[in-house]
Amino acid sequence: MAHSRTVYDELVKSDRVHSRLYTDPGIFGEEIDRIFHRGWVFVGHAGEVPNAGDFRRKRIGMQPAIMVRDQSGQVQLLLNRCRHRGAMVCDEERGNTRAFRCAYHGWTYKLDGSLAGVPYPEAYGDSFHREDYGLTKVPRVESYRGFIFASLSPAGISLAEHLGHAREQIDLFAGLSDSDEVSVAGAQKYDYRANWKLQVENAMDGYHAITLHESFLGVLEERARHSEAADDFKGQFQGSRFAVTRDLGGGHVMLDYWNRLYDTLNADPIPEVFPTTESGRAHFEQLTSRFGNTRAAHNLLQGMTHTLIFPNLILIGIQMRVVQPVSVDYTEVALYPTTLNWLSDEANASRLRGHEAFFGPAGFGGPDDADIFVRVQEGLGADLIDPWLLIGRGLNRERRDPDGTIVAERTDEATQRGIWRQWKKVMTERSTIPRSRTGSAITLR
Ligand code: FES
Ligand SMILES: [Fe+2]
Repeated sequence: MAHSRTVYDELVKSDRVHSRLYTDPGIFGEEIDRIFHRGWVFVGHAGEVPNAGDFRRKRIGMQPAIMVRDQSGQVQLLLNRCRHRGAMVCDEERGNTRAFRCAYHGWTYKLDGSLAGVPYPEAYGDSFHREDYGLTKVPRVESYRGFIFASLSPAGISLAEHLGHAREQIDLFAGLSDSDEVSVAGAQKYDYRANWKLQVENAMDGYHAITLHESFLGVLEERARHSEAADDFKGQFQGSRFAVTRDLGGGHVMLDYWNRLYDTLNADPIPEVFPTTESGRAHFEQLTSRFGNTRAAHNLLQGMTHTLIFPNLILIGIQMRVVQPVSVDYTEVALYPTTLNWLSDEANASRLRGHEAFFGPAGFGGPDDADIFVRVQEGLGADLIDPWLLIGRGLNRERRDPDGTIVAERTDEATQRGIWRQWKKVMTERSTIPRSRTGSAITLR
């Protein structure tokens, strides 16, 4: 049953949100419908499928999909459902293929989704036209610098409107590279028994590091005893000198800072950054004139942004992190570390080692975070007397920058408020968007 606007007004306040938002299966269903099955969601990066025939299985909200580069070089998003009787036509997580052949009765689809053939077609008679039975295409697909977004609604705001200020953060993430110069080799996946929004909020939480990641700080402290540089970095991590929380609008929020943070455990001294291609040289010059040589080099090794692209893409350092809701209290997360094709192998290796140190399965940070989500979900069970979670930290000292973004101190919860503001907007706005009629596979409740 759909919840009315008033219900969400009751549950989401500017300084607090209600436990039910993380625990109510009905609300979860509505989130999927409104946020994931109508709005723009991130699906994948073109660098995951560099060659014709490369594919990866994806999900758009709850809808299984295939991201595949077709013969003409175009990246296609196709729903992973045979037009005959519904079997998934692509079973492998990733790979390279010339066609998708359904394992059930053998209908075979080309890389662009068109139906190439069916066994014994004569039984269908003259009214059967193969061109009517290609794999269903996702109604709207747009990309920005190789970041591919989809909307299952045939109409609505453009991707550019959706991204707004967040576009600049994608530029920084890609190191001002062109899309085909970002490579995505593999993925690291984990799941946890808690609500999807806990990961989204945590990744943009500037308050928790000093306690939850205490062991990481301890190691930095240890290193600081041996190295002047590490001391400097630790100061940046703890202090707020260079860091603010920023609400970019549209649910996109960030921790706005720069420092060489995660790689301090591995590489000291860090390798020199030099571009290996002509266009790489141009990018590097651009960065250097904008940020100065040291910061440009550090940021290329470390990654340049710490941003949530609402609702499901998190860009931290060199990784794209994708949050996949599965049920109200179960979530899958995939981390995709990237390399930049125009950087030297040594510099790319340093990026990866730094990423692993904090975010890897045996890293200093990622496991702490995943553990706390489960503790929160369990704690939310005690909701009879005080069901509220507080997100009002720093509300009294946030301010608006000339570009319209809202800024607060590093440990303030301006980021959480920005996420919830957009959440409430999407969940309560009157939808003028027509339901899709372009394919039977898309049904919006
Ligand atoms: S379900 Fe795919 S061929 Fe029958
Ligand atoms: Fe964390």
